[in-house]
Amino acid sequence: MRLALKWMMALLAVAATCSAASATTSSKRINDIVNTRCSTCHGPTGQSSNAEFPKLAGQNADYLIRQMFNFKSRARKSNEMEKEMAGLSGNDIEELASYFSLQQLVPVPRQDKALIEAGRSLYMAGDPERGISACAVCHGPKARGGKLLPRLAGQHAKYLELQLRNFLEHSRTTDQMLMHSVASKMTDDEILAVSYFLSGLD
Ligand code: HEC
Ligand code: HEC
Repeated sequence: MRLALKWMMALLAVAATCSAASATTSSKRINDIVNTRCSTCHGPTGQSSNAEFPKLAGQNADYLIRQMFNFKSRARKSNEMEKEMAGLSGNDIEELASYFSLQQLVPVPRQDKALIEAGRSLYMAGDPERGISACAVCHGPKARGGKLLPRLAGQHAKYLELQLRNFLEHSRTTDQMLMHSVASKMTDDEILAVSYFLSGLD
């Protein structure tokens, strides 16, 4: 009996130090996760240098949280991201989203005026005759998105193209059909132009 009591006291003492430690070191924990894991693909400040990996800098925090939970539950499929999300708590996910959303996003300057104009026109006005809604209606006139709507301004063109194709082929299914109906009507040239235009926006 006395032994059992001693054990319980010891366990409580351990539990107390653990929770004290996690309360004071949570931001070091997030920095470590960013620097040892996320930075490999997304860069330490979310400016991923490989254009197939999305920039996370300046992205809307609620959207980032939602996508991380989507990867965790496999509602959005990505082998890389599913592995990365395993072992992260809801609190880690919120702190990571907050960290990346507060970083400054750096767009790529774009020169091809004809391509920019083609992209801008589709983005702002859509193509009503073919049933393509204007992207600006949902993603905003400056492409900064909203709570659960992603910011597209300044994102890598290559990543935007990949995602538009994922929606078109229905391999990304996390949008309750909104993006499917838009992307399914887009031609290759339109996907290229709108992605090029968006990647240069501040
Ligand atoms: C091995 C490379 C790799 C690592 C490491 C990695 N990611 Fe990713 N991440 C990706 C890829 C690839 C995608 C795009 C997945 C797809 O095709 O939809 C992605 C997508 C995301 C998205 C969705 C962004 C959007 O615009 O929809 C978020 C959020 C994200 N990653 C957060 C993180 C965080 C936080 C970490 C660190 C814990 C991390 N990633 C580590 C490769 C990686
Ligand atoms: C009816 C509203 C709506 C319209 C119109 C719309 N989108 Fe979207 N878009 C969304 C939503 C919602 C998401 C987030 C989907 C999710 O949660 O996975 C999204 C996601 C995206 C993504 C993925 C971004 C990322 O970081 O992974 C791209 C790229 C995109 N939209 C481009 C476009 C383009 C280009 C157009 C115009 C041709 C457009 N969208 C029109 C609602 C819309």
